[in-house]
Amino acid sequence: MISVSNNTYDVDFYSPDLTLEKLEELIGYKGIGCPPIQGKAMFEAGKNGFGNGWIVELGTFQGAGTSYFAAGSKCMNREKVLTIDYALGDSRSFDYRAFWESSITHISECARMWLMLGLSDWIVSTRGILTADAAKLFSIPVRALFIDAGHTYPEVIDDINLWGSKVISGGIIIFDNYDSPEVKQAIDELIVPSSDWLKLDDSHYRTVTVVRR
Ligand SMILES: C[S@@+](CC[C@H](N)C(=O)[O-])C[C@H]1O[C@@H](n2cnc3c(N)ncnc32)[C@H](O)[C@@H]1O
Repeated sequence: MISVSNNTYDVDFYSPDLTLEKLEELIGYKGIGCPPIQGKAMFEAGKNGFGNGWIVELGTFQGAGTSYFAAGSKCMNREKVLTIDYALGDSRSFDYRAFWESSITHISECARMWLMLGLSDWIVSTRGILTADAAKLFSIPVRALFIDAGHTYPEVIDDINLWGSKVISGGIIIFDNYDSPEVKQAIDELIVPSSDWLKLDDSHYRTVTVVRR
Protein backbone atom coordinates (compact mmCIF):
# COMPACT_ATOMS: atom_id res chain seq x y z
CA MET A 1 0.00 0.00 0.00
CA ILE A 2 1.10 3.55 -0.64
CA SER A 3 0.16 6.52 1.45
CA VAL A 4 1.57 9.93 2.11
CA SER A 5 1.13 12.11 5.15
CA ASN A 6 2.96 15.21 6.36
CA ASN A 7 5.13 15.06 3.25
CA THR A 8 6.61 11.71 4.25
CA TYR A 9 6.29 8.61 2.11
CA ASP A 10 4.97 5.43 3.61
CA VAL A 11 5.80 2.78 1.06
CA ASP A 12 7.64 -0.31 2.14
CA PHE A 13 7.56 -2.33 -1.05
CA TYR A 14 6.87 -1.77 -4.70
CA SER A 15 3.23 -2.20 -5.60
CA PRO A 16 1.29 -2.05 -8.86
CA ASP A 17 -0.73 0.54 -6.92
CA LEU A 18 1.96 2.96 -8.05
CA THR A 19 -0.14 4.35 -10.85
CA LEU A 20 0.46 7.61 -12.68
CA GLU A 21 -2.15 9.33 -10.51
CA LYS A 22 -0.56 8.01 -7.33
CA LEU A 23 2.88 9.17 -8.44
CA GLU A 24 1.57 12.64 -9.20
CA GLU A 25 0.09 12.77 -5.72
CA LEU A 26 3.27 11.50 -4.06
CA ILE A 27 5.86 13.51 -5.97
CA GLY A 28 3.93 16.72 -6.52
CA TYR A 29 5.34 19.58 -8.58
CA LYS A 30 7.16 22.44 -6.95
CA GLY A 31 7.62 24.62 -10.03
CA ILE A 32 10.94 23.12 -11.12
CA GLY A 33 11.76 19.64 -12.26
CA CYS A 34 9.09 17.46 -13.78
CA PRO A 35 5.60 18.91 -14.35
CA PRO A 36 2.71 16.40 -14.47
CA ILE A 37 2.23 16.63 -18.24
CA GLN A 38 5.85 15.63 -18.74
CA GLY A 39 5.61 12.93 -16.08
CA LYS A 40 2.65 11.48 -17.96
CA ALA A 41 4.65 11.27 -21.19
CA MET A 42 7.53 9.58 -19.36
CA PHE A 43 5.29 7.12 -17.48
CA GLU A 44 3.56 6.13 -20.72
CA ALA A 45 6.87 5.75 -22.54
CA GLY A 46 8.25 3.59 -19.73
CA LYS A 47 5.13 1.44 -19.66
CA ASN A 48 4.03 1.11 -23.27
CA GLY A 49 6.90 2.48 -25.38
CA PHE A 50 7.95 0.61 -28.51
CA GLY A 51 10.92 -1.76 -28.70
CA ASN A 52 13.59 -3.13 -26.43
CA GLY A 53 16.42 -1.09 -24.95
CA TRP A 54 17.41 1.08 -22.05
CA ILE A 55 15.42 4.07 -20.89
CA VAL A 56 17.73 7.05 -20.41
CA GLU A 57 17.24 10.41 -18.73
CA LEU A 58 19.79 13.17 -19.25
CA GLY A 59 19.52 15.50 -16.23
CA THR A 60 18.38 13.81 -13.02
CA PHE A 61 17.99 16.89 -10.79
CA GLN A 62 15.79 15.74 -7.89
CA GLY A 63 14.76 12.47 -9.52
CA ALA A 64 11.11 13.20 -10.30
CA GLY A 65 11.25 12.40 -14.02
CA THR A 66 13.34 9.31 -13.25
CA SER A 67 10.54 8.06 -11.01
CA TYR A 68 7.91 8.41 -13.74
CA PHE A 69 10.04 6.51 -16.25
CA ALA A 70 10.93 3.78 -13.73
CA ALA A 71 7.39 3.33 -12.38
CA GLY A 72 5.99 2.93 -15.91
CA SER A 73 8.66 0.45 -16.91
CA LYS A 74 8.66 -1.52 -13.67
CA CYS A 75 4.92 -2.11 -13.62
CA MET A 76 5.36 -3.98 -16.92
CA ASN A 77 8.61 -5.62 -15.78
CA ARG A 78 10.45 -3.87 -18.60
CA GLU A 79 13.89 -2.21 -18.85
CA LYS A 80 15.75 -0.26 -16.18
CA VAL A 81 16.29 3.50 -16.25
CA LEU A 82 19.75 5.09 -16.56
CA THR A 83 19.82 8.68 -15.32
CA ILE A 84 22.82 11.00 -15.65
CA ASP A 85 23.70 14.30 -13.99
CA TYR A 86 27.04 16.08 -13.57
CA ALA A 87 25.99 17.77 -10.37
CA LEU A 88 25.61 16.11 -7.04
CA GLY A 89 22.93 18.70 -6.38
CA ASP A 90 21.71 21.51 -8.62
CA SER A 91 24.84 23.64 -8.90
CA ARG A 92 23.11 26.56 -10.54
CA SER A 93 20.85 27.25 -7.61
CA PHE A 94 23.45 27.45 -4.88
CA ASP A 95 26.71 29.16 -4.02
CA TYR A 96 29.82 26.99 -3.82
CA ARG A 97 29.63 26.23 -0.10
CA ALA A 98 25.90 25.61 -0.14
CA PHE A 99 26.36 23.50 -3.28
CA TRP A 100 28.27 20.82 -1.42
CA GLU A 101 25.85 20.89 1.48
CA SER A 102 22.85 20.74 -0.81
CA SER A 103 24.51 18.00 -2.87
CA ILE A 104 24.34 15.63 0.02
CA THR A 105 20.73 16.56 0.62
CA HIS A 106 19.78 16.06 -3.01
CA ILE A 107 21.49 12.71 -3.38
CA SER A 108 20.07 11.35 -0.17
CA GLU A 109 16.64 12.79 -0.92
CA CYS A 110 16.68 11.23 -4.38
CA ALA A 111 17.79 7.87 -3.04
CA ARG A 112 15.24 8.01 -0.25
CA MET A 113 12.42 8.91 -2.61
CA TRP A 114 13.28 6.08 -5.00
CA LEU A 115 13.58 3.66 -2.10
CA MET A 116 10.27 4.70 -0.62
CA LEU A 117 8.59 4.44 -4.01
CA GLY A 118 10.05 0.96 -4.39
CA LEU A 119 11.91 1.99 -7.54
CA SER A 120 15.58 1.81 -6.44
CA ASP A 121 16.11 -1.53 -8.14
CA TRP A 122 14.87 -0.09 -11.45
CA ILE A 123 17.19 2.96 -11.51
CA VAL A 124 20.89 3.26 -12.33
CA SER A 125 21.96 6.74 -11.23
CA THR A 126 25.23 8.18 -12.51
CA ARG A 127 26.30 11.42 -10.82
CA GLY A 128 29.31 13.68 -11.33
CA ILE A 129 29.64 13.14 -15.09
CA LEU A 130 28.74 15.25 -18.10
CA THR A 131 26.22 13.70 -20.46
CA ALA A 132 28.74 14.06 -23.32
CA ASP A 133 31.35 12.04 -21.40
CA ALA A 134 28.80 9.45 -20.29
CA ALA A 135 27.82 8.91 -23.93
CA LYS A 136 31.31 7.51 -24.55
CA LEU A 137 30.99 5.08 -21.63
CA PHE A 138 27.57 3.59 -22.39
CA SER A 139 27.27 1.62 -25.63
CA ILE A 140 23.67 0.67 -25.15
CA PRO A 141 20.54 0.54 -27.26
CA VAL A 142 18.01 3.07 -25.99
CA ARG A 143 14.27 2.81 -26.58
CA ALA A 144 13.28 6.02 -24.77
CA LEU A 145 15.53 9.04 -24.22
CA PHE A 146 14.64 12.12 -22.21
CA ILE A 147 16.86 15.13 -22.99
CA ASP A 148 16.68 17.54 -20.06
CA ALA A 149 20.27 18.31 -19.00
CA GLY A 150 22.08 21.38 -20.34
CA HIS A 151 19.64 23.78 -22.04
CA THR A 152 22.14 25.76 -24.14
CA TYR A 153 22.23 25.29 -27.93
CA PRO A 154 25.61 23.43 -28.04
CA GLU A 155 24.65 21.18 -25.12
CA VAL A 156 21.35 20.15 -26.70
CA ILE A 157 23.08 19.61 -30.06
CA ASP A 158 25.66 17.35 -28.37
CA ASP A 159 22.99 15.39 -26.51
CA ILE A 160 20.99 14.86 -29.71
CA ASN A 161 24.07 13.71 -31.63
CA LEU A 162 25.75 11.63 -28.93
CA TRP A 163 22.67 10.08 -27.31
CA GLY A 164 20.12 10.29 -30.13
CA SER A 165 22.36 7.99 -32.17
CA LYS A 166 21.82 5.26 -29.55
CA VAL A 167 18.03 5.35 -29.96
CA ILE A 168 16.69 2.25 -31.72
CA SER A 169 14.54 2.43 -34.81
CA GLY A 170 11.02 3.11 -33.54
CA GLY A 171 12.35 4.49 -30.25
CA ILE A 172 11.62 8.00 -29.02
CA ILE A 173 13.23 11.14 -27.65
CA ILE A 174 11.28 13.31 -25.24
CA PHE A 175 12.52 16.91 -24.98
CA ASP A 176 11.63 19.32 -22.24
CA ASN A 177 11.48 23.10 -22.70
CA TYR A 178 10.73 23.48 -26.40
CA ASP A 179 9.68 26.97 -25.32
CA SER A 180 13.31 27.71 -24.40
CA PRO A 181 14.93 29.51 -27.41
CA GLU A 182 18.18 27.54 -27.53
CA VAL A 183 16.45 24.19 -27.05
CA LYS A 184 13.96 25.09 -29.77
CA GLN A 185 16.75 26.16 -32.12
CA ALA A 186 18.58 22.85 -31.67
CA ILE A 187 15.41 20.77 -32.20
CA ASP A 188 14.32 22.86 -35.20
CA GLU A 189 17.72 22.54 -36.86
CA LEU A 190 18.64 18.94 -36.10
CA ILE A 191 15.38 17.06 -35.60
CA VAL A 192 12.57 18.75 -37.53
CA PRO A 193 14.18 18.70 -41.04
CA SER A 194 15.73 15.25 -40.53
CA SER A 195 14.20 12.24 -42.25
CA ASP A 196 15.54 10.16 -39.34
CA TRP A 197 13.04 11.66 -36.92
CA LEU A 198 9.28 12.08 -36.96
CA LYS A 199 7.94 14.84 -34.75
CA LEU A 200 4.85 13.46 -33.03
CA ASP A 201 1.78 15.49 -32.25
CA ASP A 202 2.87 17.45 -29.21
CA SER A 203 -0.24 19.56 -28.86
CA HIS A 204 -1.07 17.86 -25.59
CA TYR A 205 2.38 18.32 -24.17
CA ARG A 206 2.85 22.09 -24.45
CA THR A 207 6.59 22.49 -23.81
CA VAL A 208 7.29 18.78 -24.21
CA THR A 209 8.23 17.53 -27.66
CA VAL A 210 8.25 13.84 -28.57
CA VAL A 211 10.01 12.51 -31.66
CA ARG A 212 10.14 8.96 -32.99
CA ARG A 213 13.03 7.45 -34.90
C1 LIG B 1 16.06 20.78 -15.54
S1 LIG B 1 17.05 19.80 -14.52
C2 LIG B 1 16.45 18.16 -14.83
C3 LIG B 1 15.06 17.89 -14.28
C4 LIG B 1 14.71 16.43 -14.23
N1 LIG B 1 14.86 15.79 -15.54
C5 LIG B 1 13.29 16.20 -13.72
O1 LIG B 1 12.49 15.61 -14.44
O2 LIG B 1 12.99 16.59 -12.60
C6 LIG B 1 18.60 19.79 -15.35
C7 LIG B 1 19.67 18.95 -14.67
O3 LIG B 1 20.69 18.71 -15.65
C8 LIG B 1 21.97 18.77 -15.06
N2 LIG B 1 22.91 19.14 -16.14
C9 LIG B 1 22.98 20.31 -16.81
N3 LIG B 1 23.92 20.24 -17.78
C10 LIG B 1 24.46 18.98 -17.73
C11 LIG B 1 25.46 18.29 -18.47
N4 LIG B 1 26.10 18.87 -19.50
N5 LIG B 1 25.77 17.02 -18.12
C12 LIG B 1 25.12 16.42 -17.09
N6 LIG B 1 24.15 17.01 -16.35
C13 LIG B 1 23.82 18.28 -16.67
C14 LIG B 1 21.82 19.82 -13.93
O4 LIG B 1 22.74 19.55 -12.89
C15 LIG B 1 20.36 19.64 -13.48
O5 LIG B 1 20.27 18.81 -12.35
